[in-house]
Amino acid sequence: MLSFNTKASSFLALAALILFFLTFFSSPADAAIGGGVVARRSVLENETVLVLAKERTRRKDPLDDRRYYTGGWNITNKHYFASVLYTGTPLFLVAAFWFVLFGVFLLLACMYVCCCRRRSYGYSRAAYALSLILLTLFTIAAIIGAIVLYTGQAKFHNSTKDTLEYVLGQADSTVGNLKSFSNYLTNAKTVGVGQVFLPKDVQSNIDNVNALVTSAADTLESATKNNKDDIFNYLDTVGLILIIVAAVMLTLAFLGFLLSVSGLQFLVYILVIIGWILVALTFILCGVFLVLHNVMGDTCVAMNEWVVNPTAHTALDKIIPCVDTATAEEARSQSKEVTFQVVHLVNGFIANVSNVNLPPIAGRLSYNQSGPLVPLLCNPYNPDKTDRKACIPGEVGFTNATQVWKNFECQVANNKCTTVGRLMPSMYDQMSGAVNVSYGLYHYGPFLTDLVDCTFVRDTFATIHKDHCPDLRLYSKLVYIGLVKVSAAVMLSLVFWMVYARERRHRKYMRLADAAASAQATK
Ligand SMILES: *[C@@H]1O[C@H](CO)[C@@H](O)[C@H](O)[C@H]1NC(C)=O
Ligand SMILES: *[C@@H]1O[C@H](CO)[C@@H](O)[C@H](O)[C@H]1NC(C)=O
Ligand SMILES: *[C@@H]1O[C@H](CO)[C@@H](O)[C@H](O)[C@H]1NC(C)=O
Ligand SMILES: *[C@@H]1O[C@H](CO)[C@@H](O)[C@H](O)[C@H]1NC(C)=O
Ligand SMILES: *[C@@H]1O[C@H](CO)[C@@H](O)[C@H](O)[C@H]1NC(C)=O
Ligand SMILES: *[C@@H]1O[C@H](CO)[C@@H](O)[C@H](O)[C@H]1NC(C)=O
Repeated sequence: MLSFNTKASSFLALAALILFFLTFFSSPADAAIGGGVVARRSVLENETVLVLAKERTRRKDPLDDRRYYTGGWNITNKHYFASVLYTGTPLFLVAAFWFVLFGVFLLLACMYVCCCRRRSYGYSRAAYALSLILLTLFTIAAIIGAIVLYTGQAKFHNSTKDTLEYVLGQADSTVGNLKSFSNYLTNAKTVGVGQVFLPKDVQSNIDNVNALVTSAADTLESATKNNKDDIFNYLDTVGLILIIVAAVMLTLAFLGFLLSVSGLQFLVYILVIIGWILVALTFILCGVFLVLHNVMGDTCVAMNEWVVNPTAHTALDKIIPCVDTATAEEARSQSKEVTFQVVHLVNGFIANVSNVNLPPIAGRLSYNQSGPLVPLLCNPYNPDKTDRKACIPGEVGFTNATQVWKNFECQVANNKCTTVGRLMPSMYDQMSGAVNVSYGLYHYGPFLTDLVDCTFVRDTFATIHKDHCPDLRLYSKLVYIGLVKVSAAVMLSLVFWMVYARERRHRKYMRLADAAASAQATK
């Protein structure tokens, strides 16, 4: 029960992530994407439910008659918390036993010292030497424990901070991407070449998607901003508590050693009483840390299992409601639609206006265009919005369309071309704007899909599991070991302060008795 569970991760990091994605996916973000309703995943009758971290979380559950808990990682389940809290019991018990037994012992010792002070003592040189040696050893052990605790907490603090910063960075980059995407959408609405604009239904779809994206970005951003400082404050507080514990225990061990060696009995007893309480508190802290360590380990394993089983229904889905693939596809297709429409609009203008030779067809815009034909823009999608395999030779791609079209510009007077060319500068600008927008939407499409179908969260979790868990596991173990070491060592040195003080007193008494005896003999 006391054994370390090997996988550990940052529970805080997960809490942060959960918070972000809860706020992100909560209303109005889950209302609709471009008219497509985002359905939360619901359990189908025959869908398999995956129990996360099943082996690790098989612990005795005090709420269920200490039967084994089998529900796996599930932070909405009180049995999970009860069973994981139960793992700290040995340490809580140690604290309780220590507090009671040593308290009783102190009481008895006090009575013994007060009432039976002048009784004759047995003294043995060996016992005296042994108690001094053990006292020294336990003091050294306490010092080592304090050092382990101190370095452990520093490393643990850093790795937790790294993890949190990674998560916050992910959130920030998400906000950045959402905002850019929203910018492109805003620009897309006003795209038009000549007198041609996007169809009305496409424009209203853009509005829907844009409202959604903007509010999602804002929610996520404010969640990040509001919680960032709090989370780091908690983290710093935990670090500070551990540093204080290390420093206090170190001082206590050292001072106790000095005082008991120098025979300042009264001060030793005061220190023993302080130490008695502190040791009990430290053991409780050990227990708390062990529980935390186990929850973190469970979380890490749960995250990984969730990542490698993308289709299974798990307890994590409730917290991070990923939408189903059909909905993701819908959201994505809205962005494809806009991209397709914008490219279509530009190409329509090129084919039907700028590449039409004089004399103009009735009703068509004519501005004395002449010269080589303007190449069409390569549409990345087919009319059914599937990806196009390749562009037709002669078409230009998003990346260099503006550059290529520059060669087809003509000089203008009175709204007519006066030099060879097929695009008036105003047209060129509009077309460049359209290219910019459709390229932006095309570029952010995959990001949007990843976000919606949780690929993004899965990637984040996978990285946490791979890059951050090992460190967190190692260092939280180090902190735990340091805490156990320091509390056990201080506990034992405390006992030996008293034992040694007693031996020292006996020795002094014996010496006095010897001196008296030899003085009498020489007389
Ligand atoms: C689940 O049940 C539905 C209808 O009851 C069926 O269409 C589907 O194929 C089933 N899926 C699996 C994985 O059994
Ligand atoms: C998690 O616990 C809650 C509350 O006990 C329960 O309703 C839910 O089904 C559990 N989830 C899983 C995946 O076991
Ligand atoms: C040119 O205009 C006609 C009718 O105005 C339209 O049917 C056709 O699709 C347009 N061509 C392109 C390439 O958009
Ligand atoms: C456009 O750029 C691509 C690579 O980015 C290049 O292969 C192609 O030749 C360029 N086209 C023109 C017309 O410059
Ligand atoms: C039309 O363009 C040609 C060059 O292609 C130019 O020589 C001519 O002057 C232009 N006509 C008008 C009315 O600007
Ligand atoms: C697209 O427009 C934005 C400003 O609206 C600009 O910052 C960006 O560089 C443009 N991108 C390209 C590829 O021209």
